[in-house]
Amino acid sequence: MTLEKESLGLLQEALARLEEGFVCLPKCDRSPNLDAMRTVLLEVAERMQDNYPYHHPFYAGQMLKPPTEIARLAYTLSLWINPNNHALDGGRASSAMEKEAVAEIAKMFGWESHLGHLCSGGTMANLEGLWVAGNLQPNKKVVASTQSHYTHSRICGVLSIPFQSVPCDSRGRMDLTALKKLLQAGDIGTVVVTMGTTGTGSVDPLPEILELQAEYGFRIHADTAYGGYFILADNLDAETRAAFDCLKQVDSIVIDPHKHGLQPYGCGCILFKEPSVGKLYKHDSPYTYFSSSELHLGEISLECSRAGSSAVALWATQRLLPLIPGGEFAASLSKSRKAALTLFEKLQNDGRFIVPFPPQLDIVVWTVKSQSASESSQLAKEIFKVAGQENLHLAMANLPKQLFLETGAEINWDIDSITCLRSCLMKPEHLDWIDSIWQTLDLVTTKVLREAVSIAT
Ligand SMILES: Cc1ncc(COP(=O)(O)O)c(C=O)c1O
Repeated sequence: MTLEKESLGLLQEALARLEEGFVCLPKCDRSPNLDAMRTVLLEVAERMQDNYPYHHPFYAGQMLKPPTEIARLAYTLSLWINPNNHALDGGRASSAMEKEAVAEIAKMFGWESHLGHLCSGGTMANLEGLWVAGNLQPNKKVVASTQSHYTHSRICGVLSIPFQSVPCDSRGRMDLTALKKLLQAGDIGTVVVTMGTTGTGSVDPLPEILELQAEYGFRIHADTAYGGYFILADNLDAETRAAFDCLKQVDSIVIDPHKHGLQPYGCGCILFKEPSVGKLYKHDSPYTYFSSSELHLGEISLECSRAGSSAVALWATQRLLPLIPGGEFAASLSKSRKAALTLFEKLQNDGRFIVPFPPQLDIVVWTVKSQSASESSQLAKEIFKVAGQENLHLAMANLPKQLFLETGAEINWDIDSITCLRSCLMKPEHLDWIDSIWQTLDLVTTKVLREAVSIAT
């Protein structure tokens, strides 16, 4: 598979259009040393060959994929200006584009009004969400499930907010009985609800957590860094759909356009339902240049300088692929989900594998049936390695005993977790490639199991 280059011609045309906006200025040309640049750039191209092929459907491992063409071009185009979205003085057009793009994301979740902005990624966005939560619920705990992103407890450490983990049920979702028990102590200010855990794509039971909120009164911060865009998919199971349908009732939402939103890295987003939380950000730095009375994004953001190019790329992507149910972008998420369901069925019907539970989004995890948990883990690691040699790139996840309770498989638990294989089927092309992926996985598994038997005998 070649790298897409056809769209590059558009960049020349768009650059000429951009230049038209500055023709009134006195001439000030730059002439870069192309020979020296060529040498370095070709060296960069060679260095970059040392990567997994994230753009190809045979990369079916971690949460990684290159941005879509329009995002890549719009980002690159804007670099001739290099706007900074801290203040309007640094990026007038790109700040306006950020406000529009973020409002479209808020609308996707059902919010007509909100306060929000882009930031460097999910971790920074969660930090802002929990910083606001900590300010509004001083001296109270933040809780998140044991399968939530590892950074929640670390963020709470940075913010000096007490943190506690809530155990998960057998499908990797926050356990409601355990949560209720913790709530009875009366010291929980915020519950982090993960809509798509990093390991298994599990979605916490938001409708039931909202019922507990009515009884116990706490903030809900939804970490949808990975799963948020699935609100547009038309093939979620009933329980998952119900959880996404009540997302608009939470207090804050994190979503990562640089995961399923087709953007280059450096694009996370934090949204608050209540615009008045903006008052918490108030600062009076003499170094920033707030030259107009309009809202500067630096007034509602913890970071100072931020890439305006991220906003430009996101705006352009959403212009081409609007965030609407039934649209082309929504269809691409449904395809990823269908790819995951297809792979799940194939694994489920193959006696060599144990699949803990069906996917709620587009992440599938499985391991290999064997004598013991440690041997299953060893075989999964070997399949990961041999599959890589065959150009099929998977990922691994270490999953606790608890997540295998529904399988009915008799597992000798000599260790209390199993290393599983894990596939994030994030590219819509994965659906058309699932048979080839399966054929390679089948071949590799046969080879690995045959070798394991021959070593044992
Ligand atoms: C659910 C969830 N939250 C937060 C994060 C952190 O996001 P980032 O890597 O953009 O900082 C991730 C990353 O995988 C995630 O899956």
